[in-house]
Amino acid sequence: MKITRKQFLEFFGASLALSATNSIRALAQTLVIDSKPHEVNGAVKVGDAVSTKIPFIKPTMADDLTLAEGLKFQKLISWADPISSKLNFGSHNDYLAFVPLKAGRSDHGLLWVNHEAVNPTLFRRLSKLPKDHPRDKKYIDEEMKQVGGSILEIKLNKAGIWELVQNSKYNRRLDGHTKIKITSERPLVKSRWAKGTLANCAGGVTPWGTVLTCEENFQDFYGEVNYETVLNDKNKKSWNRVEVKPEEGKTFNWKAHYDEPSEHYGWVVEVDLKSGSAKKLTALGRFAHEGAACVKAATGQTVVYMGDDKENEFFYKFISKGKKSLEKGNLYVASLEKGQWLSLQIEDQPLLKENFKDQTDVLVRVREAAALLGATKLGRPEDTEIDPNAKGVAYLTLTSQKTSSGSFGAVLKVTEENQDHLSLKFKSEFLYEGGAKSGMVAPDNLAFDKKGNLWVTSDISDSNLNKGSYKDFGNNGLYFIPMSGDQAGKIFQVGSAPLGAELTGPYFTPDGRNLFLSIQHPSEGSTWPDKSDTPKSSVVVISGEFLEKFCI
Ligand code: FEO
Ligand code: CA
Ligand code: CA
Ligand code: CA
Repeated sequence: MKITRKQFLEFFGASLALSATNSIRALAQTLVIDSKPHEVNGAVKVGDAVSTKIPFIKPTMADDLTLAEGLKFQKLISWADPISSKLNFGSHNDYLAFVPLKAGRSDHGLLWVNHEAVNPTLFRRLSKLPKDHPRDKKYIDEEMKQVGGSILEIKLNKAGIWELVQNSKYNRRLDGHTKIKITSERPLVKSRWAKGTLANCAGGVTPWGTVLTCEENFQDFYGEVNYETVLNDKNKKSWNRVEVKPEEGKTFNWKAHYDEPSEHYGWVVEVDLKSGSAKKLTALGRFAHEGAACVKAATGQTVVYMGDDKENEFFYKFISKGKKSLEKGNLYVASLEKGQWLSLQIEDQPLLKENFKDQTDVLVRVREAAALLGATKLGRPEDTEIDPNAKGVAYLTLTSQKTSSGSFGAVLKVTEENQDHLSLKFKSEFLYEGGAKSGMVAPDNLAFDKKGNLWVTSDISDSNLNKGSYKDFGNNGLYFIPMSGDQAGKIFQVGSAPLGAELTGPYFTPDGRNLFLSIQHPSEGSTWPDKSDTPKSSVVVISGEFLEKFCI
């Protein structure tokens, strides 16, 4: 998700449509939470042209979460809802991970929720902060509380309703103020501690049950940094650090009050849900991290697949050195032409030795290193997932990949040599090309259900949604792709988001009977979920006969 230029312009330029009458807490207290499961109005009864009669819906612009027959949802939590006596749920919920408190349990556990951004316009409406001085420090301090992540203890009650456990010792927030350790070999800009985590998009779960939360569009908060090469008289290289400040009026620009170095952001952050402790894993490189799909190799090492969500950026893989830590290991980047994972270790590459100070420098400027080695440029690499039913297979969504049908995206399938995730050679192919034929565009998040079917969510950008060549696709969607049986490989739309929202973070309980899903950033003009004039990002839980029949 990226806050658009339009949203920033609204923020800095527009007058308020509504008077700001409530603080966030007051608003949270007046919310009526409708937590009863209900069949969705307007679900389209589908044609049964297919032999296994998989229900689907047609694209729609309805301002609701529309689901196919056999699927129902309950709302679990919305932006600004209280999660303890002192804390509130953050904004723009994205990645979700359900980690049972007792192994295997599907009715009680900790839910990790990413908070990717804050919509300045809506936020200003909810808060009483000054509209004429939007970069006022107290305003930025409040914005900082909206990002990061939430840890929630949740339970399925006897009536079959998911509930937040009120006052649980586990309920907590990590946000833009939380002090987080940086695990780099040397301090980054003189510090081993970062102020907060932000832009938390997708993520992953490690084999030992910690959660990985990925910092994506970090540059909008504290800007970027360039390293200019300088040659001395003896032709010896050194590098000048040049800050690129976030653009005023077009970004969050927290730099206006906090002089945090950009090098402290753009990392994968590992969180222990029970203790809330977190650390930034620099060994996995610094870029616009989307997701981090983990798989345990036969040796006990962990392999992590990661996309860099920016046009013409790359697909990465990390292989841990040890068995229960991602602090040390080797980072690689994909060359699709060579079918090879290229090492980003400075000792393996004379080109890197020539152009970077040390391995930490390579990791901080890893996009430059990957480009230098000739990695394959891709159309916005987003989420990654491991195929649970095929050895050595990983998938990557490319939300704007150019194919014969246009720049509507595709899913890249990578099959590692010898079906081994540790292999440095692979074969790849583009699947599920976006466009009129498939009915899907701009694939973003992926999840496999218990049976091994693939679920995909789309993220059509704000500027394209329901316009021009994207009009036929309606609002953003949830898609179901059977991976076995006579419908294998076909794409069925089974969900449609409220106006302007994207569906993110799909995550199943271990029994496959519940699908957690984020409804992120319903737009200005949407009244979802409370039929109020302040649309709110929310987490829902989807269940129903569809899952029982096709996914378990
Ligand atoms: Fe935050 Fe790449 O989506
Ligand atoms: Ca996206
Ligand atoms: Ca995403
Ligand atoms: Ca995923």
